[in-house]
Amino acid sequence: MVQAAAIIQGAGSSMREQGVDGVRFRQALAAHASGVVVITAQAAGALVGLTVTSFTSVSLAPPLVSFYVDRASATWTSLKLADYFAVNVLADEQTELAAIFARKGIDRFANCLGWRMGAHGVPLLDGTSAHLICHRHSVADIGDHILVVGHVVEAGTTGGDPLLYHRASFGSFVPLSRGSE
Ligand SMILES: Cc1cc2nc3c(=O)[nH]c(=O)nc-3n(C[C@H](O)[C@H](O)[C@H](O)COP(=O)(O)O)c2cc1C
Repeated sequence: MVQAAAIIQGAGSSMREQGVDGVRFRQALAAHASGVVVITAQAAGALVGLTVTSFTSVSLAPPLVSFYVDRASATWTSLKLADYFAVNVLADEQTELAAIFARKGIDRFANCLGWRMGAHGVPLLDGTSAHLICHRHSVADIGDHILVVGHVVEAGTTGGDPLLYHRASFGSFVPLSRGSE
């Protein structure tokens, strides 16, 4: 909602947005639990990827998804060259994989357990609960992040349980009651 509000209000609202205390802002955001994905792509012959919690669905028809990447990200300098990218939805036993794809200064693909080349030349990580292959739809500068929207051209699921992130910790999903399938 914060991100959506920033888009609607535009740059002219920067004074009002600065009114919130930075610590309280981060604490409030940390109360929001999210799934964990790794965005992967092949750009100029190199494999790139990063762990992301800002992933969300955008539209069903057309099928659009999005994520936000830090403007200062070194990964983005390569990722922005790719026409296609994959969203790898991590399963609850993949906390180490989430950590590897967030670590600076390492070859993230050499350190992960396994991956394969998917359609459109995008690397798909092994053991995930789902994947979506996306054609880059649009990109927009939003504050200190960049909004990346992808048009989903292929999707697959394995039925694994999701990895969650909440208050700087990884966890798994425990249903309070069984919902309708
Ligand atoms: C749980 C978690 C969620 C993250 N979510 C995002 C995100 O939504 N956007 C982003 O740009 N970076 C996110 N990061 C940081 C990146 O995974 C990674 O640390 C960063 O891209 C490393 O910097 P580099 O791209 O300069 O190598 C997240 C990291 C973790 C551990």
